[in-house]
This record gives sequence, C-alpha cells and structure tokens, in this order.
Amino acid sequence: GSVPEHTPKEEFGDLVAALPRRQQSILELRLYQGFWLPEHWVPGTIVFQRRFSPRPDDVVLASYPKCGTTWLKALAFATAARAAHPPASPAHPLRRLNPHDCIPFIDEIFAGGEHAKLELLPSPRLMNTHLPYTLLPEPVTTDAGGCRVVYVCRDPKDMVVSLWHFLRRAKPDLSFAETFESVCDGTVAAGPVWDHVLSYWRASVARPDRVLFLKYEDMLRDAAGSVRRLAEFMGRPFSPAEEAAGDVAAVVELCSFEGMKGMEVNKPGAGGGTAGRYRPMPRDAFFRKGVAGDWANHMTPEMAARLDRIVREKLQGTGLAF
Ligand code: A3P
Repeated sequence: GSVPEHTPKEEFGDLVAALPRRQQSILELRLYQGFWLPEHWVPGTIVFQRRFSPRPDDVVLASYPKCGTTWLKALAFATAARAAHPPASPAHPLRRLNPHDCIPFIDEIFAGGEHAKLELLPSPRLMNTHLPYTLLPEPVTTDAGGCRVVYVCRDPKDMVVSLWHFLRRAKPDLSFAETFESVCDGTVAAGPVWDHVLSYWRASVARPDRVLFLKYEDMLRDAAGSVRRLAEFMGRPFSPAEEAAGDVAAVVELCSFEGMKGMEVNKPGAGGGTAGRYRPMPRDAFFRKGVAGDWANHMTPEMAARLDRIVREKLQGTGLAF
C-alpha cells in the first residue's frame, strides 16, 4: 500500500521548532548549522542535504541573496546554452523569460517536495542555491561527487542597500537602520554574511577546479573576462571561431543590466508575473540599479566604517578582502 507522503514542512516540523529563533523584519529566522535561515527554508534544506544526488557535470550557482544571483544565472545560462541558443538571437529564452524562470532554485524545489523535477532535467544541469558551502549536501563537496560550484559575492555594504530595497517591497515601512543592524549582527537571512562568503572562499582555495569564486564588482569592471572564466570553468571555453564571431560580447550584451531591466518580461507588472515561489517577487524587483558603491547614498560614513571594520576583522588572515 502507499503511505501518504508528508511535505518537508510536516516531516521536519519538530526539528525546526526546536531550533533557536529570531525575527528579522518580515522573516522568521532559525539558527540551523551555524546560519540564520528563514524558517521556511529549513525543511527544504534538510531534504536537499539528504536526498540530492549530484551529477559530475552539474553546475551549482551559489550566492548570498542580493549579491548578483540574477546576473550570474543569466550569464551562466547564456554561456552554457550558447550552442542551442546563440546569444545574439532575437529568439533567445532570456529575452522571454526572467533568469529565475530559466534556472531552478534548488532550495525551493526541495522545500516544495518537488525534487523529481530536478531528476528529470537533462544534463548538464544548471541550478542555484543561497545556502552556504558548509550546508551543501556532502556529495557536492567531495571530488567523487564532482559537481562544479560557482559563487558570486559582493561588497556587503552594497548588499545591505540592495536587500533593504528588496525587503521594502513586502514591508514598505522597513527602516534602513534596522536592516543594517541585522546584517551587522549576523541575524539576517543566510547570515552571517561573512561566514557565508568565507565558506565558499575556503572551498575555492582548496578546490579551485571545482569552486569558482567571483565578485560582483569584478564582473562589472570586466564582464567579458568573467564570461570567459565561466565558460572555461564549465569546461567549454570559447573557441577562436566563437571569439572571432563576437559571442562573448553577445553574452555580455544579452545579460546587461539595462538590457534585462528593459525587457518586457522584467518590466513592472509584466503579465502580473512573479519569479520564484518561496516568496514570489515581481520580476522587476531583481533589477534596481545594478552598480557598485550605491551604499554611499544610504549610509553615513560611520555606518560604512563600522560594517567595513566588522567584515575586515572576520576576513583577517583569509586572503580575501572587499
Ligand atoms: P541593486 O539592488 O544594488 O541594484 P540578486 O540577483 O542576488 O537578488 O541581486 C540583485 C542585485 O543585482 C540588484 O542590485 C540588481 O539590480 C543587480 N542586478 C540584477 N541583474 C543585473 C545585471 N544583469 N547586471 C548587473 N547587476 C544586476
């Protein structure tokens, strides 16, 4: 006979209820394996950790929220799919679909009890996660499991600004100061941010062929260079013929901030649509300003110095700096 399946939320309800809890603006956070996860992420995370089976040619895109996930998803998709979908083509999927609708968010799929969907994806699979490296399923982090991970990070000061604007979509009266404080003391979704970044930094130092570490600011400075690194890392560098045809520039152009923000599908109210189901967001919410240094318009020099000092102390001696 068939036993009725419990949702991950039902299955792990007791475990989640026993975890330390904090409220941060609109989110209930739970301390799980050293990180403050939104409560509704935890059951899916547990299932992901237990049941995910990586394939050797998988590429997992990882990020701290608001650090360039959308852009990385677009660039990786355009690069990986360039044979089937030439980046300059007017019919490219990224001209019709938000990047979040092109690449599945693993955590969300597991939370929804839909992991069969991941099994059905053809290889090579591209997926993304907001979990820190230390919370990824063990086979992902071993050479035997062998899948590749690309991480994008960003100056935490700009992350705070981006996060505040994003959260204000759901809570318009949220103060910048409250968001700033929660980042500084680490009680923020997927926080502390420095531990998240360090988890991937250490992995990239230990296994550079398996973990690629990118910075949003470097991508802004040299988008073409980042696309070439992505292609090489994914095992398919741009050929001389592709280079000569301008394919790298075409990927950069297709995924540019202005280009994506201006696409019909990503405009405010477009089709009433949303990206994601965890906490569905209007698609235009993923394209705000797309620059480095906007923190200067939101925080006092004292606040900036304070967050810089915290981050500097946490990263001291690791070889990583912002
Ligand atoms: P800002 O709020 O500073 O503008 P995430 O995708 O991880 O949610 O991060 C969102 C941030 O990336 C936002 O930053 C957003 O504007 C920026 N972004 C989105 N698409 C981008 C693109 N194609 N190029 C550069 N930045 C992009």
